[in-house]
Amino acid sequence: MRVLTVVGARPQFIKAFAVSRVLRDRHDEILVHTGQHYDKELSEIFFEELGIPEPDFNLGIGSDTHGRQTGSMLMEIEHVLETEEPDAVLLYGDTNSTLAGAIASSKLDPVVAHVEAGLRSYNREMPEEINRILTDHASNLLFPPSDSAAETLASEGITEGVHVVGDVMYDSILWAREVAQEESTVLDDLGYEEDDFILSTVHRAGNTDNRTNLTEILDGLTNSPLPVVLPVHPRTEQRLREYDLWKRARAELEVINPVGYLDFVRLLDGAQRVATDSGGVQKEAFFLDTPCVTMREETEWVETVASGWNVLVGADNEVIEQELQINSRPEEKPAPYGDGTAAKQIVEVLAERAAE
Ligand code: UD1
Ligand code: UDP
Repeated sequence: MRVLTVVGARPQFIKAFAVSRVLRDRHDEILVHTGQHYDKELSEIFFEELGIPEPDFNLGIGSDTHGRQTGSMLMEIEHVLETEEPDAVLLYGDTNSTLAGAIASSKLDPVVAHVEAGLRSYNREMPEEINRILTDHASNLLFPPSDSAAETLASEGITEGVHVVGDVMYDSILWAREVAQEESTVLDDLGYEEDDFILSTVHRAGNTDNRTNLTEILDGLTNSPLPVVLPVHPRTEQRLREYDLWKRARAELEVINPVGYLDFVRLLDGAQRVATDSGGVQKEAFFLDTPCVTMREETEWVETVASGWNVLVGADNEVIEQELQINSRPEEKPAPYGDGTAAKQIVEVLAERAAE
């Protein structure tokens, strides 16, 4: 079987890593990097530390408006599909790279497979929500990470080709947690010990592109009882500078460059809690037993909230501060995202489908 994988943004390298290492055991993978993320710290670092093979095609699209970025990707991906003629196309998550891959491949021959299908925030102002919905409806193999995500697909009329396999990020983290504990020196480098700091990440458009929200978040984080480590996404750095908040952020928080996956997992594992607006980080926190404070009004990862391990606080500085004062953990944790074998199951289903 020949599978063409489309990646482009940071979380997709981590998800594709989990599946690629199983896929490449017995099948051929053609890796296409759209170039959506291009800074070393958002792209190359993951290829290096996770041993992901060099992309077969790097489309070099880069940052642009949604329409131009997605449109350029669409044209280039179509061209690659026409020359490579894969049996299946693998798409991850909800970025513009995912959507471009979905549109290009669904109008050609290959099976279109979406990993992380069926997730909804029900907030259509998020560009990712539109990307998720359209990708799910353009796919013919869907891999929801949980039963609730499969139910969402069913409620939208998608019942064929749906396989609940669990979450590929769980596969990744099971591997990374141990390796990070052995190899990462990030805690020592920064001078922190387990449980004596808060980790934070912020990059969602609704938070960064809104001065009020970003200021509220900064206010909430700076009032934390513990030091806050903030590996800053370039989008957020740009906005902090633009809003004249950069100096204050650097003075009152431990602002660092984005880190590689192993250092990030070590930080998340060691943090007393995490304050984030990331999708992936909410889940990883759950897998690592680190309570999560989500600086959004809603989440696709509903099981993390229902179980008490995640709390939605929006961009409200008082609620953020209040939640960061708490230092307790729920006693129990359910396992809604599978058993860490999502990648193996995805490859099996793909191979069966390609053989039909
Ligand atoms: C994108 C995804 C988002 C995902 C995130 C993961 C979309 C619509 N958004 O958001 O779903 O959660 O990736 O991190 O697909 N930039 C750089 N260097 C880079 C990449 C971006 O400086 O390597 C800056 C550019 O100014 C760019 C901005 O960040 O305009 C936003 O980048 P973009 O890829 O459009 O969106 P993200 O916010 O990264
Ligand atoms: N991550 C990382 N370094 C960082 C911040 C995040 O390796 O400095 C990883 C994190 O472990 C997770 C993924 O990036 O696997 C999440 O990506 P991001 O928050 O950018 O996107 P989202 O999940 O919100 O789409």
